[in-house]
Amino acid sequence: MSAPADAGMPADLLAHARAAKGFMPEDEGLLLHRLARRRLPLGPVLEMGTYCGKSAIYLAAAAREVGGTVFTVDHHRGSEEIQPGWEHHDPEVVDTELGVMDTLPFFRRALARAGLEDQIVAVVGRSTTVSAWWRTPLALLFIDGGHSEEHAQADYTGWAPWVMADGLLVIHDVFPDPADGGRPPYHVFRRALDSGDWVEVEALGSMRALRRVGGDAGDAVR
Ligand SMILES: C[S@@+](CC[C@H](N)C(=O)[O-])C[C@H]1O[C@@H](n2cnc3c(N)ncnc32)[C@H](O)[C@@H]1O
Repeated sequence: MSAPADAGMPADLLAHARAAKGFMPEDEGLLLHRLARRRLPLGPVLEMGTYCGKSAIYLAAAAREVGGTVFTVDHHRGSEEIQPGWEHHDPEVVDTELGVMDTLPFFRRALARAGLEDQIVAVVGRSTTVSAWWRTPLALLFIDGGHSEEHAQADYTGWAPWVMADGLLVIHDVFPDPADGGRPPYHVFRRALDSGDWVEVEALGSMRALRRVGGDAGDAVR
């Protein structure tokens, strides 16, 4: 029997999400889980920005409950803002042989421990390289990749066209007040809203969910 629409996340999976390394506050992760559970019966969910799999567990947990598949895209070399010397850098995720970040093993271990490997497909590559070849309509797109202006805008330009009509675009780290954090995800949020093709449907912390009201999968976004 499937869970009711307002049910929380199963306790065993929530424990795995809490234990995973990453940048997803629990309340925002639970919002992601709730939105994914609603949308997964209509098509796949794609996450741009896997890191070590914390948010992916919330998404894949929804797929375990209602069926469906989650794709998660990352080159696993870390964003500019989490490289050595930056505040959120974690030396544990550096491949000592190559001397570069490699978060893929942490992602794989976290999803295997949670028993969610059948619900999620990891795509390892650059956002723009993968999105250039992507053709599948998405029921929900979650953008949490590089937070520079260049990468945040490219994630929107490359991935948002694949959101189906009425599908959801969820953006993380949207800070309307510059005192709270970096601006590029907010600029992407404004770009989407100002285009008139998206309307805001949920907001929690730095998470914003928008519904596509203009265009359909494959149509370019403005
Ligand atoms: C903020 S972290 C994602 C956090 C994750 N969602 C979580 O719950 O912890 C951003 C991720 O985006 C990836 N990334 C940044 N720019 C990228 C690009 N151009 N192509 C692919 N991955 C990228 C980084 O490697 C990093 O793992």
